[in-house]
Amino acid sequence: MKLAMIGTGYVGLTTGACFARVGHDVICVDSDSEKIETLNKGGMPIFEPGLDEIIKEAVSSGRLEFTTDVGKSVRESSVCFIAVGTPTRDTGEPDLGYVENVARDIAENMNKYHLVVEKSTVPVQTHRWVRTTIERYNKAGTPFDVASNPEFLREGSAVDDFLHPDRIVVGVESDRARKLMEEVYAPFDAPLVITDLASAELIKHASNAFLAMKISFANALSVVCEASGADVRKVTEGMGMDNRIGPHFLNAGVGYGGFCFPKDLRAFVRIADELGYDFALLREVENINGDMKRRFVRKVKSVLWNLRGKKIGVLGLSFKPNTDDMRFAPSIDIINELVNQGAVVSGFDPKAMERAKTVIPGIRFCDTPQEVADDADLLALLTEWPEFGELDLADIKRRMRVPILCDGRNFFERDRMEELGFTYLGVGR
Ligand code: UDX
Repeated sequence: MKLAMIGTGYVGLTTGACFARVGHDVICVDSDSEKIETLNKGGMPIFEPGLDEIIKEAVSSGRLEFTTDVGKSVRESSVCFIAVGTPTRDTGEPDLGYVENVARDIAENMNKYHLVVEKSTVPVQTHRWVRTTIERYNKAGTPFDVASNPEFLREGSAVDDFLHPDRIVVGVESDRARKLMEEVYAPFDAPLVITDLASAELIKHASNAFLAMKISFANALSVVCEASGADVRKVTEGMGMDNRIGPHFLNAGVGYGGFCFPKDLRAFVRIADELGYDFALLREVENINGDMKRRFVRKVKSVLWNLRGKKIGVLGLSFKPNTDDMRFAPSIDIINELVNQGAVVSGFDPKAMERAKTVIPGIRFCDTPQEVADDADLLALLTEWPEFGELDLADIKRRMRVPILCDGRNFFERDRMEELGFTYLGVGR
């Protein structure tokens, strides 16, 4: 099957490459000619484990191509995925201008029946506007259907998430569209959840909101644990063994970040509001998340007293491990507040240093974790990169002026750290 993936951002690139991997012919399109040139030269615009090899193999076998020519991609394909960005406006509303432009491009270039699939995360009922737009600009009256096929990819494990999904959600409005989507996903061994379009759009919002809620629940719980002498890791372990709750997304820490949860949660609250429902529960999920960052700074202060002139080393800057993504990373707000209060901050991240330099001014970026520890009054761990588990902690301690470790991800074991002579502060323990 020949597919067009319009929008070669994080989602479009991963999805397009993986569709090629399972045997489809895919044309990935982007209006950013520099990005397309990079990809055509074998370069990668993002860091995502495993994606590089998949792209190389698919390009050399002729199943994947990159272009800026959206018209060609539409004319040559039978299924077009809209995977462009839906950035959040200041009001919390997603900007759907790019989705509309693509719908118009598709309408103007369709030369036979087309299935137009929403891949971008869009507010419920967006399909109606996509349909209306295509009808308006489709002067030849070429037949088409609209489908919704939300993605559930996590950065850092997007390839595996795509190739081995828990479920595939498809919203359709005709048999013809359903059959085509079944064909698209035939190579996958996962249950296909077929729904109407509005339900498919909502499954995406509801899933992300629910996951964010689980994290904020664990974080709020961590505050109670800390005050009562309980250990949040034990409490969530005990809760998670109940099948109805499940063990995932209950790790307390400095809060969630990334491009999806903060943006999608705000958008969902706004959508519910427009539909006449004040989703106060989700507003509180956001509040708790913001509060965790402020609490972390207070914890650092509680052990250092005054921050002015104190040297604080930060291990981990990206919003989570295995990505160079700094968007809405908790490290940004935490470090800015430490700097505002006069601390002298240095930082290290295995992958996100370049991006961090553009969003966190006023700190010293170090080449190694050891350099971050040199002369520090406190080390703060904000992202649980697995390589931090390999550090020679006795050496780290020797390098520090005062061996205090504030572990924002409960990554280290308290007993071991105390045995080594650290003063250890976790979250909710
Ligand atoms: C998320 C969704 O998981 C994915 O399905 C959706 O398509 C996009 O948004 P992503 O943002 O890549 O994916 O990261 P995820 O692994 O979900 O983590 C999000 C944030 O939550 C990170 O900052 C992470 O550190 C934090 N988190 C996650 C916790 O603080 N505790 C947890 O238990 C789990």
